[in-house]
This record gives sequence, C-alpha cells and structure tokens, in this order.
Amino acid sequence: MSDARATHGAGASGFPPGFYWGTATAAYQIEGAPRADGKGESIWDHFTHTPGKIARGETGDVADDHYHRWQDDLDLMQRLNLNAYRFSISWPRIFPDGYGSLNEAGLDFYSRLIDGMLARGIEPFATLYHWDLPQPLQDKGGWTNRDTAKAFADYAGVMARRFGDRVGHWITLNEPCVTTVLGHVTGEMAPGEKNPALILPVAHHQLLAHGLAIQAIRAESPRPTDAGITLNLAYIEPASDREEDVAAAKLFSGAWQDIYLEALYRQRYPEEIETILRMLGAPDDLIQPDDMATIAAPTDFIGINYYSRNIVRAGQNGSLLPEVVPASGALTVMGWEVYPQGLRDLLLHVHQTYKPPRIYVTENGAAYPDTLAPDGAVHDPDRTRYLRLHFDATREAIAAGAPVEGFFVWSLLDNFEWAHGFEPRFGVIYVDYATLDRHIKDSGRFLAKVAATNGARLDAE
Ligand code: FCB
Repeated sequence: MSDARATHGAGASGFPPGFYWGTATAAYQIEGAPRADGKGESIWDHFTHTPGKIARGETGDVADDHYHRWQDDLDLMQRLNLNAYRFSISWPRIFPDGYGSLNEAGLDFYSRLIDGMLARGIEPFATLYHWDLPQPLQDKGGWTNRDTAKAFADYAGVMARRFGDRVGHWITLNEPCVTTVLGHVTGEMAPGEKNPALILPVAHHQLLAHGLAIQAIRAESPRPTDAGITLNLAYIEPASDREEDVAAAKLFSGAWQDIYLEALYRQRYPEEIETILRMLGAPDDLIQPDDMATIAAPTDFIGINYYSRNIVRAGQNGSLLPEVVPASGALTVMGWEVYPQGLRDLLLHVHQTYKPPRIYVTENGAAYPDTLAPDGAVHDPDRTRYLRLHFDATREAIAAGAPVEGFFVWSLLDNFEWAHGFEPRFGVIYVDYATLDRHIKDSGRFLAKVAATNGARLDAE
C-alpha cells in the first residue's frame, strides 16, 4: 500500500526497498471453467466459439484450469519468491449479465484467491477489466454504448466494497487501446468489429468507465486505495526524418496511445487526432460536459505494459494510414523486436511529461518456442536475457528519477494468447497442455533469484 511505502529512493540494488516483484495474468487466459458456478458468457467466450477467429480453433474453455488449480499456482508464486500478483477479475463471474444480480459464487472464488495470496505474503493487484466484457452488455452495443461505462463503475464499486479490506491496489482497465483498435477496427480480437468510426466512441467510453470506476473504488473501499489504469505503450519512432514519416509516426502514436495519456493527464484529446476521428464519424454529443474532468481525476499510479518498439513510416502508394515497418533484429515468437532501451525511455518520458505519483510496469515478457526436456527442465535463455535487459532498463529509469515501484512479468504461466491461441508461450512456468502439469522454466528460477534479492542478482542464471 502506498502509505507503507515511504521512499522512491533506490536501495543498494538499484530498486527501492519494498519493490513489488510479481507476475501478471488475465482471467480469460488462464482460468478455464467458462460456465462454472453461475458465470455468464463473455465476449471472449463468444468470439472463441465463432469459427475462424482463433488460430487452430482453440478456445479458453480449459486454458490452464487455474479456476481449479489456483492453490498450486499460488504455491508456485511463493516458490518464485514473488511478493505481488497482478490478476484480473472476470466481470461475468460477478455479474453474469454485466449488471443487476450479483453472483455470490463468483465472488467467493476471488475471495478465496485473495485470501490465498495474503496467506503467502503476496500483495494482490486486481485488474477489473482485462477484456472479458459480459456478452449481454455487448448485445447492447458494448463499449460503443455509454451505459457500459456506468455498469463498469457499479461493478468496480461492488468489488471495492467486498474486497477492499484485503485488496489495496486496483487497476481499472487493461490496455484500452487494444480493445479500441484490435477489437473494433481490425477485428482481430473480441468483439471483432471492423469500423474505424468506432475509435473515438470506444476509447471515450472506456476512459469514462475508468474515471467513474476510480470514483466508485474510492467511495466504496473501506480503506485508502492505490488505484490507476494500465496502458499498453510502445516506443514509437519515425522510420526517417522525412516529414511524411514523422507525421505518420505522430498520427500512429496519437491514435494508439496519446489519446489515452492526454485525456488522463491533460483532460483533452490531441486536437488533430480528434479532428480525424470525428471525420471518421464520431457523434457530436459523444463527449458530455463533465466527462473530461471525470476521466482526468488524479490517480495514484499509471501501469505500463511494454513489449517492443514500433518504427512507423508513411503509408505506401498514397495511403493516408501510417504503416509499421516489419521489425528486424532480435525478434520474439510474436515478431516483436527486443528493444529494452525503449522501456527506459518510455518510463522517463511518462515520468517527465505526465508526472504520475508512481509507475508500475504491469506487463513485460516474451514468447519463445520452449521445449520440455524429459527431466522436466525448460531451458529458455532467450527469455531470461529478455527479462534481465528489461529489469536493467527499469533500474536505469529509476536511477534517472522515474518513480517505478513494481514490475510484473507477463506471465506466470504459458496461457491462451488471444487470437494466437496456445502457441506463443509467455510463461516463466511451462504448462504441458496435455496434462496441465506445470514446470518452472530456467527464466522462472532467474526471476526467483532477482525477486529474493530485490534485483541485486540481475546477473544470476
Ligand atoms: C498484452 C495483454 C496480455 C498478453 C500480452 C502478451 O497486450 O495485456 O493479455 O496477451 O499482451
């Protein structure tokens, strides 16, 4: 909790005393049990069961079966010496219809999970929305409908009232830009819409949901909270100094991330982006009088998910849409460039430009093609290297003044990687999907040493 954390100053290792070392997961990616104990359908249940949407037709119906194996998974976190865990709460387990009648059995699951963390000395960081919108809300327009923001705030308030005695850290939304762009423009992710006119409405309603939820969390929690939002930020650079590439990078950055940062910290959308988005068709009355003040109410932290750099150039053949240059150099299975200095520079940019009271790296990690050896070992030197470089980049940002107070590796377990299915393995723990057995990878052992020494052993293998 914030009040117990007296200092931003780095300790001997370069990380502040009490730094949170954790892993992050999301409900749909690990839990399985889509209908257990009264859970309602989410847009991801719906989307994964729509033919053609997911690689190899895979679904999260079983995933890591964490819903039934959560005690073992918490034990594994303890073996990795982790003192924090970022998990997400599945909204349709709590409100099967998105609002209205509360499902006590769903609440009980998370209540036991939270107690299990505390019993093991693991600080809970709860994400309220990691993309699994209740399908009945989608049927009413989902994030294109302003009422969804209100329903989210009600749900957030109930969570703070029921769990706020034990959970102090709340993340409202995970990566609203992904819901906006991949969920509503490219259609790669649920709900699978393909309509650029939805960018501004979907972004705005999510931001409004965040702002209303912060109010609800503070109003309903029985004790002071540490509440914020998690954004996916890339390190964005123009492909050249040419004016059109610089403009393309600015447009890309504006639509992908600056609309969120500027709204949250400056109470506005970048002017040229709003103009373009309105030309695409956003309704005139979308932004109501108090909305921007609600969205920009101060939060306690920003969560940053960082994976890679994007080099952007002007659209070819006269296209107005910016293009991301295919990455080269060291790439992960996702085709993402390994670019740790981007994390350092982004942390410093956010610190210097927006001055959030504190920052958590709420996700960072890499997918590599792991194999399980007959003796149960998984040797994943590339992932260990990736993590070491990003821990080091974070340490550099802290040394330069960024108030970073925690780092959550994506992910605890190999899991269901959305439209890519199970092929990309991001875990520091290997999951054998045939048996659901877990095996700690070498990178997990590395993380355990780093966590045990608060980052003093970044050279540990
Ligand atoms: C992030 C998501 C997370 C996971 C990682 C690889 O964008 O928040 O659920 O898929 O990427």
